[in-house]
Amino acid sequence: MQPRPYVIDQMISAKSIAARIEALATQIRDHFHGTDKLVVVGLLRGSFVFIADLVRELDLPVEVDFLEASSYGDATHSSREVRILKDLRGEIAGRDVLVVEDIVDTGHTLTHVLHLLQSRNPARMEVCVLLDKPTRREVEVSATWTGFTIPDEFVVGYGIDFAQRNRNLPYIGKVRFTDTP
Ligand code: IMP
Repeated sequence: MQPRPYVIDQMISAKSIAARIEALATQIRDHFHGTDKLVVVGLLRGSFVFIADLVRELDLPVEVDFLEASSYGDATHSSREVRILKDLRGEIAGRDVLVVEDIVDTGHTLTHVLHLLQSRNPARMEVCVLLDKPTRREVEVSATWTGFTIPDEFVVGYGIDFAQRNRNLPYIGKVRFTDTP
């Protein structure tokens, strides 16, 4: 099925993202200073570009692992049911963990994932999200570090998709449908 026609208006430039990641990495490094090894857990698939840039700015010993939770499917509406499609490869019990997510929207995905990971008894667990849409929240959850707080817009780029498209844009843009006036 063809998606509705749309254009993408730039919202956050590649340069602004890079500058923000540098600042986030400094705060994360200071927080976990002295850790023997930090497990950075990326939530697939939307966080793959963010995690790649973030870990390269992190001056800490890190291990990278991934978890995939179901989210929107191919629509722009969130599903309340969260399923784990791919679990971590490694153990996190007694380890320092940084969960990296692309967007917190209703909060269901992050809440579910954090409960699951917490039940595995990490030593410390913090969360870094690139984008937060607080006006859309249905369950109370917040990240330790947030890249940008954005309004209720459907965004793409920098790893984030619309029906599996536009993940490869170097910036974050908002989707504007062109079939409605
Ligand atoms: P939540 O469970 O509603 O917080 O949804 C989180 C997930 O929904 C994110 O990890 C994204 O995969 C997806 N999502 C939320 N907002 C957007 C958006 O604006 N564009 C693309 N994906 C989104």
